[in-house]
Amino acid sequence: MKSLVIYFSQTGNTKKVAEAIYEALPQPKELKKLDEIKEAKSVADYDLVFIGFPVHSHSVPYRVENFLRQLPPGQKIAIFMTHGSIPGTRLSREALEEALILAGKARVLGTFTSRGQVSPEAMEIFSRSPEHELWTEMAVTARHHPDQNDLDDARSFARWIFSLAAQSE
Ligand SMILES: Cc1cc2nc3c(=O)[nH]c(=O)nc-3n(C[C@H](O)[C@H](O)[C@H](O)COP(=O)(O)O)c2cc1C
Repeated sequence: MKSLVIYFSQTGNTKKVAEAIYEALPQPKELKKLDEIKEAKSVADYDLVFIGFPVHSHSVPYRVENFLRQLPPGQKIAIFMTHGSIPGTRLSREALEEALILAGKARVLGTFTSRGQVSPEAMEIFSRSPEHELWTEMAVTARHHPDQNDLDDARSFARWIFSLAAQSE
């Protein structure tokens, strides 16, 4: 079974999770940045595709949005995401729910989320606007994430999804 891990990452958090997932998968496998994939339909060459992104403005980054929308129908995928806000809050949940809707034609085997530290530049910009006050308060404790436990969880998630995909071949 051939696997592909695709990620979009601006400050490196999602990349770390992508690399952990990639490490845990058996060969044959590939790890690619989203930029390296010209067309979403080209992922049909793989039996299982992991797709990861950071939450931006409570949502899925625009480029990832398009990619999810254009996935081949029935493609086996798993979604992973990093975010600064506390897991389970509306702020992180909404992005995942949106991703699931966008990838509606694909067959989603599972999802994984991890907190990811927010860059000092982003924190500085958000802390200047009152509507982001609560969000930036939450983001403070995302520091040092993804940590070793998060990456261990990502590896277990990858093995779990792989076994699900293998069973349903
Ligand atoms: C422009 C921008 C907007 C963000 N918006 C959110 C948000 O709405 N909710 C959230 O939980 N985290 C938000 N974050 C935090 C990122 O999702 C988090 O730091 C993520 O781990 C970054 O991943 P990356 O290092 O792979 O780019 C934002 C970060 C940036 C830079």
